[in-house]
Amino acid sequence: MTEKTLEQHTTDLNEDVAAIINAVANLTDEIFNELPHRRGMAGTKNVFGEEQKALDVWTNDVLVEELMKTGVVRTIVSEELGEPLHNPEETGDYVVTLDPLDGSSNIESNNLFGTIVGVHKEKETLTKGKNQVCAFYNLYGPITTLVCATKDGVNEFVKHRKGSTDYFLSRKNMKLKEPGSLMSIGGLPKDWTPAYREFVQEMMDAGKKIRYGGAFVGDFNQILYYGGFFSYPSLVDKPNGKLRLVIEANPMSFIIEAAGGACSNEKGSVLEILPDDPNQRTPIHVGNKDLIKRLEEIHGKY
Ligand code: AHG
Ligand code: MN
Ligand code: MN
Repeated sequence: MTEKTLEQHTTDLNEDVAAIINAVANLTDEIFNELPHRRGMAGTKNVFGEEQKALDVWTNDVLVEELMKTGVVRTIVSEELGEPLHNPEETGDYVVTLDPLDGSSNIESNNLFGTIVGVHKEKETLTKGKNQVCAFYNLYGPITTLVCATKDGVNEFVKHRKGSTDYFLSRKNMKLKEPGSLMSIGGLPKDWTPAYREFVQEMMDAGKKIRYGGAFVGDFNQILYYGGFFSYPSLVDKPNGKLRLVIEANPMSFIIEAAGGACSNEKGSVLEILPDDPNQRTPIHVGNKDLIKRLEEIHGKY
């Protein structure tokens, strides 16, 4: 095997960051093997009032336990915890954000879902997304991949299933294709704002193809490969959209920037927002720079 393994790759990173990435990566087999067996409901609701799936709760628990074992994590902010979880010794330099299972409505339909992680080296629990030192996601698709970004770039690792079960570097220093070809949009079209309608019409007229799968992690992954944009916009009755700034929008925005793209909340970069609530929502658009610039220009007219 000549390709670099994820573990070899992470030796080039700070060892604490490497420990966080490897803690998640080392759980992939356990999580992947559990997926077919926990497709029901947990019978509980999370802080957002959403019914938790059995897998939401279980993946959260195994990830939290393994991340805390690294000894370098001071705080975990997870979609499924309600409030930040601090390690009792108050040691560790890192705040880790977690969407244990993104796309959980796809569990029943067997569409894509994955895990999204953001890594901050900060004293404060809540800081701007631009302060992340690393962000990555694990996509439990037909092919399991871990896409990891640091300020130095974005790399994709593929999990082997024959001969070795390691992850191997499969795409190095990924950059968004120009011109981007896809658009992937959440939220009901009847609830889009006039500005967003104008933007989408322009994109359709420019020949962008619609592809939406219902999981940020999966939809983002295809944008990373084909270029274009993913949006979960502000909606007429929900000005902050649906997705969560800290656990969803920030890690993906960090990854898109490292791949040469841009992010926006319709006014400016998502990564510049100082969160005041771990659970706050934000409109989110990520994609090729020219498209995100155009999105902001159109919103600026309204
Ligand atoms: P989660 O499963 O972590 O709650 O996230 C679901 C999110 C995101 O993955 C996706 O982009 C969006 O919800 C889909 O929402 P719609 O069903 O409204 O399109
Ligand atoms: Mn999610
Ligand atoms: Mn989730």
